[in-house]
Amino acid sequence: MKTILLATILLSTIIFASDGYKIYKKNCASCHVEVMNKKDVLKNITKMKAPPMVEVSARLKENIKTTDEEDDVNRYLFILFVKDYIINPNLDNSICHAGALEKFGTMPSLKDKISPKDAYTVAEWLYDRYENIEFK
Ligand code: HEC
Repeated sequence: MKTILLATILLSTIIFASDGYKIYKKNCASCHVEVMNKKDVLKNITKMKAPPMVEVSARLKENIKTTDEEDDVNRYLFILFVKDYIINPNLDNSICHAGALEKFGTMPSLKDKISPKDAYTVAEWLYDRYENIEFK
């Protein structure tokens, strides 16, 4: 019984994760590459439309932190921020560093292209996909 439960939980996480990935592919990948190291970013910067997702994820994790270091809370705040940013990107909210903003401009809103539910799911993906992965 326990095994079945565990398998179900595992399976649903996998399905969930792949959902997030699909949403990323459909709505974000045209601008944000999934993984690229710092050196290649600098080399390819003129061809890029946005910072790679690995960088976005790392930067937001650095900046969205509560003092009590509760991982669940930090993850939740991260997800809320990203969900909101997708629908409502603006300079005042942006955590991106100034140089990047100048280079890329502000992200266009995806309000009419993505449902709030999908925005939430892709935000979860953005956090979990890069768990323990540094941008360097
Ligand atoms: C048309 C191009 C484009 C698409 C499509 C796009 N983005 Fe972006 N995104 C950008 C640019 C440019 C920036 C950097 C400037 C900024 O922060 O607004 C950015 C920045 C971000 C940031 C960083 C915000 C911050 O505070 O620095 C997040 C998070 C983000 N995008 C998430 C997403 C997600 C998730 C998707 C897909 C659902 C997506 N983006 C689709 C262009 C895009």
